[in-house]
Amino acid sequence: MQKSIEIKKENSISQKQLKEIMEIERASFNCPWSEVMFLSPDEITILAYHNNKIVGYIVYSTVLDECHILNVAVHPDFRRMGIAQKMLDFLFRESQKEGIKFYYLEVRVDNTPAINFYKKNGFKELGLRKGYYSDGTNALVMVR
Ligand SMILES: CC(C)(COP(=O)(O)OP(=O)(O)OC[C@H]1O[C@@H](n2cnc3c(N)ncnc32)[C@H](O)[C@@H]1OP(=O)(O)O)[C@@H](O)C(=O)NCCC(=O)NCCS
Repeated sequence: MQKSIEIKKENSISQKQLKEIMEIERASFNCPWSEVMFLSPDEITILAYHNNKIVGYIVYSTVLDECHILNVAVHPDFRRMGIAQKMLDFLFRESQKEGIKFYYLEVRVDNTPAINFYKKNGFKELGLRKGYYSDGTNALVMVR
């Protein structure tokens, strides 16, 4: 079923937003970010809302013409509905207005859903960071 999703960009997030983000974060990753990691002043957060509740986010930072995608997650009950795609399209549109030309990210080599998602969006494999994650898993570095 098609859900109505609203996408917003925030330069800083509130405690209420953080609480909702952390629920998704903990449900999405074995090694979730801590609260403080979402509060860095360098980060920009794209939020997806359904009925005024956060159902997904992308955290990124920019330097010169580069964008670093730092975190992406969608609430487990809202996956495969195109929400990550909507957020990434929004990120591309907004950041290109600000002169961003290159997008970088790291993804676990065993995260097939995410790798498929990035490849579908034109990301290419750039290399491996060995033992990048705390459990020793390698990261695939991707660029677009
Ligand atoms: C990866 C993630 C963000 C995708 O979010 P989503 O809203 O479900 O993705 P979308 O519905 O927008 O899907 C877009 C495309 O991604 C790919 N994709 C998404 N989920 C997939 C899955 N489970 N298996 C295979 N491909 C998948 C598909 O190519 C899909 O396009 P399609 O539906 O036309 O086939 C979501 O699965 C998630 O939150 N995972 C846990 C956190 C995580 O791994 N984050 C990435 C860290 S780098």
